[in-house]
Amino acid sequence: MRRLDGHAAIVTGGSRGIGLAVADGLLTAGADVLLTARDAAGVADAVQRLRAKHAEPTDGRRHGRVEGRTGSAGSPADTADWVGACLELFGGVDLVVNNAGANQPLAPAVDGDPAVWLETFAVNVHGPLALVRGAWQAWMREHGGAVVNIVTEGVHGAGPRLAAYETSKAALLQLTRHLAAELAPGVRVNSVSPGLVRTELARHYWESTEPRLAAATPLRRLGEPEDIAEAVLWLLSPAAAWVTGTDLLVDGGRRVAPRH
Ligand SMILES: NC(=O)c1ccc[n+]([C@@H]2O[C@H](COP(=O)([O-])OP(=O)(O)OC[C@H]3O[C@@H](n4cnc5c(N)ncnc54)[C@H](OP(=O)(O)O)[C@@H]3O)[C@@H](O)[C@H]2O)c1
Repeated sequence: MRRLDGHAAIVTGGSRGIGLAVADGLLTAGADVLLTARDAAGVADAVQRLRAKHAEPTDGRRHGRVEGRTGSAGSPADTADWVGACLELFGGVDLVVNNAGANQPLAPAVDGDPAVWLETFAVNVHGPLALVRGAWQAWMREHGGAVVNIVTEGVHGAGPRLAAYETSKAALLQLTRHLAAELAPGVRVNSVSPGLVRTELARHYWESTEPRLAAATPLRRLGEPEDIAEAVLWLLSPAAAWVTGTDLLVDGGRRVAPRH
């Protein structure tokens, strides 16, 4: 039920962190992956490492092929280019993971730079929509598919100085529901909301306080990219064939931790 042989996937923000772990898991499941990010060296390095890892599978199953493309997830021209590249390289666009996210710089809502709000919404909302539109029009409308959007557990609260980021992610969560309703039955659309994961993006939050944060987490550690990738892989796979329009919270139990 976890195999995705013959499926072609686009993973935005796939050069490190959660996106890289998702790309890795997709390759193991047999899917072909186009990973994207802005920095060309980061993309090339990720592609090289994944190719080396998956060149000779040890599990006796075929692993997927991986290619990379640069560009911004907030650019409609770049997202269109990624859809075209995935079709050309792998012959389809069956799976989309909208993982790239913008969260800088941090500021209170009333003092925030309007340009930052626009850029944050471009990357976290408009870009994911453009990518799904492109994949739908070019492939999924006829052939079906599955989409996972990466949101954040922060949409259930109001983190200090995170208004632009969390408001845009709340919009992405709601967009997930609309797309799920619109694109059924052929395309399933779900989201995953990570808690605190030990990546570059969140380093500021965990680096100096990890032992305290881990102790306050019911499962006693912070998240690793693979924890989130497992949830994404499940939602993309046939194992989740009757799941659409839902959000999967993966946070080590932080939401149910005692507050005192
Ligand atoms: N880590 C956490 O605790 C946490 C918690 C909740 C939600 N999330 C969400 O999880 C997702 C992945 O975050 P992460 O923690 O894995 O971050 P990360 O380790 O910093 O990786 C981010 C990836 O996205 C790419 N990227 C960033 N901005 C981009 C843009 N505008 N266009 C294209 N690619 C872009 C980065 O490469 P380039 O810089 O080269 O573009 C990189 O490949 C994000 O949507 C984030 O909001 C993370």
